Amino acid sequence: MNYNQLKKKVALAVLDYIPDNVIIGFGTGSTISYFIKAFYKSKKKILGAVSSSYHTTIILKNYGIKVFEINTISDPIIYIDSADEINYNMQMIKGGGGALTKEKIIASISKKFICIIDESKLVNQLGLFPLPIEIIPIAYTYIFQKIIQLGGFPKYRKGFITDQGNIIIDIYNLNLKNPVKMENILNSFPGIVTVGLFAIKKPDLILISTNNGIKKIN
Ligand code: A5P
Repeated sequence: MNYNQLKKKVALAVLDYIPDNVIIGFGTGSTISYFIKAFYKSKKKILGAVSSSYHTTIILKNYGIKVFEINTISDPIIYIDSADEINYNMQMIKGGGGALTKEKIIASISKKFICIIDESKLVNQLGLFPLPIEIIPIAYTYIFQKIIQLGGFPKYRKGFITDQGNIIIDIYNLNLKNPVKMENILNSFPGIVTVGLFAIKKPDLILISTNNGIKKIN
């Protein structure tokens, strides 16, 4: 099976983990696009959705799924999202699609966060995938300097503006042997809105789509 087929498979498998009458938090990316389609076809009854990006909101609305503003929600949210890399400690890099800020907010307020990936995303050590950070544009030069001091290579993501009107820097070659430490260091720099490392807030369950079936880590 190719990676798209594996993504479709896990997008279908996660439906078994969603109870009726909850709010679903929808992540962003191709795996989640498959999940939205599978969810729509399943005719599952939910109270509605919260969305991690403008892109996902458009897809949800096209399927007639009610999308709530995050601040208005008091019911439990089950958050379904994918990732760019995950290690065996369930720490992740996210933000390849640039939606990391709302993804992190929804992950933090959810009752349960289930991450669905194809097996190519599972790694022994994080960092081959460049680490995205969302920053306020005026902090650009300062943040570049700080990243270089940390041993990373920052690259401005050209032509991309986040839903919040900010920019993304993708960091190559950063030492992520201790992801919690690096997440804390980067979080301490003024001007960084969100770090695409999810080492402090981790998923509750990971479903991994492999050629030998769906594997679980929790
Ligand atoms: C979006 O900002 C990311 O965090 C996604 O979760 C990630 O890029 C996964 O994308 P695919 O499902 O397209 O691989």
